[in-house]
Amino acid sequence: MKGLILSGGKGTRLYPLTYTNAKQLIPVANKPVLVRVIESIRDAGVDEIGIVIGQTGPQIKEVIGDGSKQGVRITYIPQESPDGLAHAVKISRDFLGDERFVMFLVDNVIQGGIGRLISDFAHSDWNSQIVLKEVENPSAYGVAKLRPDGSIEKLIEKPKDPPSNLALVGIYMFDSTIWEAVNSIQPSWRGELEITDAIQWLIDAGHRVYPHVHQGWWIDTGKPTDMLEANSLVLEELSPTIALDAVIENSTVDRRVTVESGARIINSTVRGPTIIGENTVIENAYIGPFTSIYHHVTVRNCEVERSIVLEHSAISDLRDRLQDSLIGRSATIGRSDDKPRVLKMNVGDHSSLWIV
Ligand code: G1P
Repeated sequence: MKGLILSGGKGTRLYPLTYTNAKQLIPVANKPVLVRVIESIRDAGVDEIGIVIGQTGPQIKEVIGDGSKQGVRITYIPQESPDGLAHAVKISRDFLGDERFVMFLVDNVIQGGIGRLISDFAHSDWNSQIVLKEVENPSAYGVAKLRPDGSIEKLIEKPKDPPSNLALVGIYMFDSTIWEAVNSIQPSWRGELEITDAIQWLIDAGHRVYPHVHQGWWIDTGKPTDMLEANSLVLEELSPTIALDAVIENSTVDRRVTVESGARIINSTVRGPTIIGENTVIENAYIGPFTSIYHHVTVRNCEVERSIVLEHSAISDLRDRLQDSLIGRSATIGRSDDKPRVLKMNVGDHSSLWIV
């Protein structure tokens, strides 16, 4: 089997972070989401992976390279314009050949990874496997209507009047029957070649499409709140470790905390699930559950909980606890006792601040 990761999006809903950083490279539990996807495909035994890239391609190539760091072989497939998921499949034809493949939308994070799903499909005679999950807002997704025997009756992309609450998760598996399907469909009302329509074509042509209903959590990360939610859930799945060269002095660090190499925790309390990144310094501080602090950050004289803090940032001397926050790279947050007592900001485009 081969893997195909769709990693083209610009991530406008994550501005301002995505002005300077590809959304696919924003870390969840201190690991870029794209690296998580590559590793979960690799762990399922698939080591030839194509990545469909768009505008953020150069940054992605710089970080992921040829894939050798992750033990896989990466082929980059540029998509000139966002013409739909089925279009992304079409342009990947040379890479995929006639092999069976798993396709993964990079913004999807699911509980337990995809190892089981891939091995079920690899050992089956299905032409395709899709993953479904019950959601509260099916109109935002592709939706499946199942028959009483569990087979698929129909699939509709973003229906106004959804026939069920079963959304299509962005993880799909196909065999070579997909080629006729993607070449037969027409662009949808939003001008895209929809993978949902291609799968409907497979069903109408009598091919076997197996719907796997996922029971664990699934997050489609688009907005900052989704990143925080995904971060919390992934942190809960981590097996905590403390690096041998980490320094913990006069501090309480509970057993659900991961401390990475070179980190220093001094006069502080850290409650997990939480991860403290490489060479980060936590001093006279409280770090609460569901927090990921990336590498080379300093947190001094303040409290941070359920947040993601990116590399090279510094947070200090806050009176109130920083919570439910997404802090970009090399950001500085502090307090000044100068008079007059004012709020002073140097904030990027499309930033949001909530002040009490
Ligand atoms: C795409 C698919 C949709 C699926 C969703 C999952 O939507 O078209 O069927 O439910 O991914 O993330 P899009 O992200 O293009 O809106």
